[in-house]
Order: sequence, then structure tokens, then C-alpha cells
Amino acid sequence: QAEVNAATGGLRRRRVLVFPLPYQGHINPMFQLAGLLHARGFAITVFHAHFNAPDPSRHPAYDFVPLPDGMSAACTDDTAEPAVIATIKNIFAVNSSCEASFRERLAALLDAPGARDDVACLIADAHLLTLVDVARQQGVPTLALRTGSAACFRGFMANPMLCDKGYLPAQESQLDTPVRELPPYRVRDLMAISRNREEHDLTCKLLSRAVEAARTSTGFILNTFDALEADELATVRQDLGLPVFAVGPLHRISPAASSSILPQDRACLEWLDAQAPASVLYVSFGSLANMSGADLAEMAWGIANAGQPFLWVLRSDLVRGAARVTLPDGFDAVASERGMVVEWAPQEEVLAHGAVGGFWTHGGWNSTLEGVCGGVPMLCRPYFGDQMGNARYVELVWRTGLALEGELERGKVEEAIRRLMRSEEGDRMRERAQELKSRAAEAITDDAGSSFLSIDKLVNHILSLSL
Ligand code: UDX
Repeated sequence: QAEVNAATGGLRRRRVLVFPLPYQGHINPMFQLAGLLHARGFAITVFHAHFNAPDPSRHPAYDFVPLPDGMSAACTDDTAEPAVIATIKNIFAVNSSCEASFRERLAALLDAPGARDDVACLIADAHLLTLVDVARQQGVPTLALRTGSAACFRGFMANPMLCDKGYLPAQESQLDTPVRELPPYRVRDLMAISRNREEHDLTCKLLSRAVEAARTSTGFILNTFDALEADELATVRQDLGLPVFAVGPLHRISPAASSSILPQDRACLEWLDAQAPASVLYVSFGSLANMSGADLAEMAWGIANAGQPFLWVLRSDLVRGAARVTLPDGFDAVASERGMVVEWAPQEEVLAHGAVGGFWTHGGWNSTLEGVCGGVPMLCRPYFGDQMGNARYVELVWRTGLALEGELERGKVEEAIRRLMRSEEGDRMRERAQELKSRAAEAITDDAGSSFLSIDKLVNHILSLSL
């Protein structure tokens, strides 16, 4: 404890440098982590790319170092490319385009009087290996934050073995084959399933670089908690052989509304106040997933025909290749009768609201954790990356929801919503979801919760580091 208190400034205030990957699903957990370290007494400096840059005025206590990265050209929204490939290429582009400017600005920061004593470490997103290397070359100890689940990272570590064993690249006929080494995944749930050689190779490179960023760091941070992923965390701990800090659910310790890139439409909270308890289906697909116009129409009619009140987040870039989202003719009447459509919601608050009774999600890890903490059953429609694996855990491990697979068709959508919101099967899912919500609350309980204790260990670990 004395050591912990040292961070709060007795002798000197230690500084943690953070570098988030500039995507919403990565920015939120990094700022939540920064928030909790700041609350434990650390000064925070945020290095960031210009692309999706944070707004310093919303974090007046932090220092910000914007890097002139030349990213705007690299990160244009190329709608011709699937979101996953464009995103992976952008992640590599962030690494390479920030490398020189990060080296220069970090050296300048370390040259300031007393800085070498103050700076404790860099916490970088695990997808920023190049920047982790730059920091280490300048003598700055690093920690890697991976913003997905422990199960997902276990899959990253297993990826070379999965390729050697012939699971990957995936054959069409084997998509439903169980991956014995990583239950409950099937081949179709793995990240590097693409049969396109370029896509497969890009994804393998992404995963191996993230594992290297963890292995070459002094510690590894995951936004999860012991009761949710005990076995998966044990495997990651054993295989990495590093201190692994499971500090989630981060949003419950340190909310991230202030790191939202898009403005959140708070009017939907008032609308929720007027709805019956557990009656509303909340529909949101995170910040990156996109779909065809035909799928959007099937979704809309499925939601309409299910007859349930709904709150639907329709990002302006949700439909592939379209400049804006157009709902089918006639849907407006349904929406004004029992729904609300917004472009971006205060999701953490929405999922914590008592009127929300179900969550149709793409299964991004932040959304999944926010759903777990809301205690709501989830309908998962995964699109790419870790989302397929997260849906498997919701459906088969925690049994708090359903996966909606195959062609999106209005009858199937209507049926899935009814099962989730108005069936005995849905009631059982809700009970288990409430149970999991309690486990999440326990994990962050002061002095005893597993994540609380892990945060203490993380704080002491950071205090033990020096340049
Ligand atoms: C991406 C990947 O797609 C995801 O699979 C991975 O785990 C993290 O990176 P994203 O698709 O945006 O993230 O999904 P998710 O992880 O769920 O993060 C979205 C964040 O945006 C959540 O924190 C959510 O609260 C927030 N959000 C979403 C809002 O604030 N408002 C909204 O209307 C929707």
C-alpha cells in the first residue's frame, strides 16, 4: 500500500505513457485504463495518431502528444474493401507512419529535466508492436493492452499451430469442424479463416505481431475478469510466462463516455425512461461492422414484425457502399410507434438501463462486456475478427444468448427476437445473464474482487519499473 501511495505524489508523481490504437473499440478501454491509473495517482501522457484523435479538452488532467502521422491518406474509408481487411491495413499503417514521429517525440519527452525519473512505462495497444519496439529501444519499459477477450488472445497464440495442423486457411467444407484445441470454437470462428491468401497472410501477421508485443513487454493487460474466463486466463498466463493483469470490466471502473469519437445522442435515455422494465431490444453493431442494404431491410422488418419496443443505433456508414442509411418504406411508422433510431448512443448507460431487456450485438468485445454488466441476454450476429468467437462464448459457455447465423431473413430475425425477449428459454438466459452481472460486480469489489486485486498488482508492477 505504501508503494501504491507513492504514486499519489508523496515523493514524486510517476507518469504512465499510453498509446491507443485509433479505433473506438480500442480507444475506450485504453482511456478507461488511463482513468483508473490516474485515479491511483499516476500522471498520464497520451500519444496518439491524428486519425480518430481524442479530444484533449475532454481530459483536462492528461497531457497529449499528437503525432504528425500522414495518416489521412492511409486511413480513408475504402468501402470497396471488406471492413476487416481495410482495418488490418490501417493498423499496419498506424504503426509505420507513427514510428519516426513517435521516436522523435518520445526522445524529446525523455530529455526534459527529471523525465527519466518520472516516466514509469508505456502502455500500448497490443496491435502497436512497432511503437512498443521504439519505446524499448529508448529504455522505456512497456506493457501491452489487448482489448479483446482472453479466449481470443489464446487463439492468437495458437494461430501458428492451427495453420500447421491444417485448420487454416479454412476449407469451405470444414467451416463447421470443431477446433479440438480451442473449444468451443469451430473453424469458422477463428480469426484467420479467409481462403484468400493475401487476407490470410495479413491476419496471421496481425496476430503474431500482437503476441510479440505482449511477449516483449514487462506485463500484459486484459479487459476481462477471472470468473468470466478462468481457464482461458490460466492458459494465457502459462503460455506467456509474464505477469498478466485481468482488470475488467474496465468500463465499470472508469466510464469512457468522454472518449467517444461520435457524439452520443442522450435523448434515447429519456425515451428509455418511459419504457416498461426489460421491454426494449437494444440493437447496435459497434463502430466498424457494416452490412448490405438488403440485410438492413431484412433486419428492419424482422424487428418490426417481432412487435417489441426497440432502440436501434444506425451509424451513418453502417451500409456498405452507401453514403447514408435508408430504412425501408413504411418502417418510419413502426419506429414512431414503438422505437427510437439514433446514430450513436451512450451505450454503456443504455445497457445499464432497466428498460433494456435484450441486446442485438455484433459481439465486439467491449459490447459483449457491456452486455454482461447490463445482465441482458444477447442476440449475436458476428461480422469479423473476434466477434464470431465472442458469440460462441455467449451462446455455449455462458449460455446468456443466441447466435444468429447464416442468411439474414426477416422471419428468422423475428423468431430470434421472440426467443430472446419472450420465451422461457429467453427467461433462463436472462437469469444466467443476471448471475454473470453479479460476478462482474464482484470482480471489481474494493479490497476483495479479482480485478480490484489485479489492478493493485498492476499499480505495484508499474511502480517497480524504471528507465
Ligand atoms: C472493434 C472490433 O470490431 C471488436 O470486435 C473488437 O473486440 C474491438 O475492436 P467495435 O466493432 O467498435 O470494436 O466493437 P466494440 O468492441 O463493441 O466497441 C464499440 C464501443 O463503442 C463500445 O465501447 C460501445 O460502448 C461504444 N458504442 C457503440 C457507443 O458508445 N455508442 C454506440 O452507439 C455504439
